[in-house]
Amino acid sequence: MPSRSQIGPLGRHRTASPSQTEALGSRLALELSPGDAVLLEGEIGTGKTTFVRGACRALGVTTPVTSPTFTIGQRYPSSPPVAHVDLFRVEDLDAEDPELLADYLRPDTIAFVEWPRNIDALRSYALLVARVSIAHAGGDRRIVSIEEI
Ligand SMILES: Nc1ncnc2c1ncn2[C@@H]1O[C@H](COP(=O)(O)OP(=O)(O)OP(=O)(O)O)[C@@H](O)[C@H]1O
Ligand SMILES: [Mg+2]
Repeated sequence: MPSRSQIGPLGRHRTASPSQTEALGSRLALELSPGDAVLLEGEIGTGKTTFVRGACRALGVTTPVTSPTFTIGQRYPSSPPVAHVDLFRVEDLDAEDPELLADYLRPDTIAFVEWPRNIDALRSYALLVARVSIAHAGGDRRIVSIEEI
């Protein structure tokens, strides 16, 4: 797999508001290309969707960005298209129809995957470029770590 020399705001960041976490998402988004996927980890309510919302805004998505509820993902028809996948309720990705992911992780699309499972399956659909891990740090404070994978 080719690797990127530079993917933007790598390292450990502290944010103190949702908008600061969105801003980090925007910065990372601007380094991404179609076919790339970013994984987002961290406990419930840490701000994964908030980070993705900032990324989507930077990529030209103008509609509301919320957690997918009745499907595993949401596609936004921006240019390039953006996909937001949430695998929280998918216990075993191998047991699911692989086509489930193919709708979202595509060569023409920049994808964000919350609660990633079975990294090998994800890797067969997209170039996994970064892992974003968000942790609570009291109140509205969060620690956002962005690393290459
Ligand atoms: N610094 C911060 N960064 C991000 N979100 C914050 C911050 N401070 C407070 N919040 C709030 O925390 C919540 C984060 O919710 P969000 O849906 O983004 O989390 P999530 O990690 O996607 O949760 P889930 O695991 O349920 O998908 C929002 O209500 C947001 O406003
Ligand atoms: Mg979420």
